Amino acid sequence: MIAEEMIEINKTSNSRINEVDFENLPFGKVFSDHMFTATYKDGVWQKAQITPFQNLSLNPATSVIHYGQSIFEGMKSYKAKDGKIRLFRPDQNINRFNISAHRMCMPEVPAALFQEGLEQLLDLDRNWVPDHKDSSLYIRPFMFATDEYIGVRPSESYMFMIFTCPVNKYYAGSVKVKIEEEYSRSMPGGTGFAKAAGNYAASLYPAKLAQNEGYNQLLWTDSTEHKYIEESGTMNVVFKSGNTIFSPAVSSTILSGITRDSILKIARDYGYNVEERKIEVAEIIKLLETGELDEAFGAGTAATIAPISTINFRGKDYELPDADSWEFATKAAADLNAMKTGKSEDRFKWNVII
Ligand code: COI
Repeated sequence: MIAEEMIEINKTSNSRINEVDFENLPFGKVFSDHMFTATYKDGVWQKAQITPFQNLSLNPATSVIHYGQSIFEGMKSYKAKDGKIRLFRPDQNINRFNISAHRMCMPEVPAALFQEGLEQLLDLDRNWVPDHKDSSLYIRPFMFATDEYIGVRPSESYMFMIFTCPVNKYYAGSVKVKIEEEYSRSMPGGTGFAKAAGNYAASLYPAKLAQNEGYNQLLWTDSTEHKYIEESGTMNVVFKSGNTIFSPAVSSTILSGITRDSILKIARDYGYNVEERKIEVAEIIKLLETGELDEAFGAGTAATIAPISTINFRGKDYELPDADSWEFATKAAADLNAMKTGKSEDRFKWNVII
């Protein structure tokens, strides 16, 4: 554990909380009062601080702007009826953050520094954690290269920060997705498994083309043959046919989603046959054609469980049964939400209470 006094706290004297309409929260546009910052230089993490949420001032030569060494995480915390804050599986995000850091040639953030900074930030801004239905406090930890230097090499200095946003749903309703066969999100040996900012930048153009055609997101396929389903970019993807729940196995090209993992654990707990494996596009299309694909949904921290209503493949729209009639995703989403918000027993011991 890092000593509490390692984090200097400078509280705001001007809270913005009364300006916030907690009943109508957009996603990612409202920021809580404080932020956490730790800097890395000379090979060590320096003293960390919590300050009022504020703009950064950067030298135009700051390395991240030019060469993109930047990673992030998405986490959520919830307020239960007892007023306590519940943080969902933070160990998983901290671990994945450091896997991303390693791939991007960045220093690891010690788990104790990450956890302590996060807990103190949440404690300070606990009034910002919403308790309305479908709301939560979204947490954005991130790290970027801060050397003021023009040249391609790993930076020697970094900034690790955390800020939070009270949010409602990322997707308002069901999503329409298009299977992508031309562009690629990631490739073997690349950075697809890492939560690297550049992965998202590279996905914007193909996603925009699909959005112009009326789809919310792409369903990415493998970059070699465009034969296997990978993920959806903002979320992993899970399917149900009969008694089987199946999802592309995580790999070097797919982000290892924590919501995905939680949903598959719940599915196993319910007694479904759960498969994590390669999934051919052709298999999904066949199931859609024969009416045997019962459910398809995205799973992600921001998206939570996002039912898929339409899958487009080679110009044809295939419709899924109405999500209201689904037997698994709706129940699992409610179950997961009840565990996260303390309404039911945390039977997998996923919550950290603050
Ligand atoms: C998350 O689910 O937390 C993400 O980082 C995805 C992003 C599109 C909001």
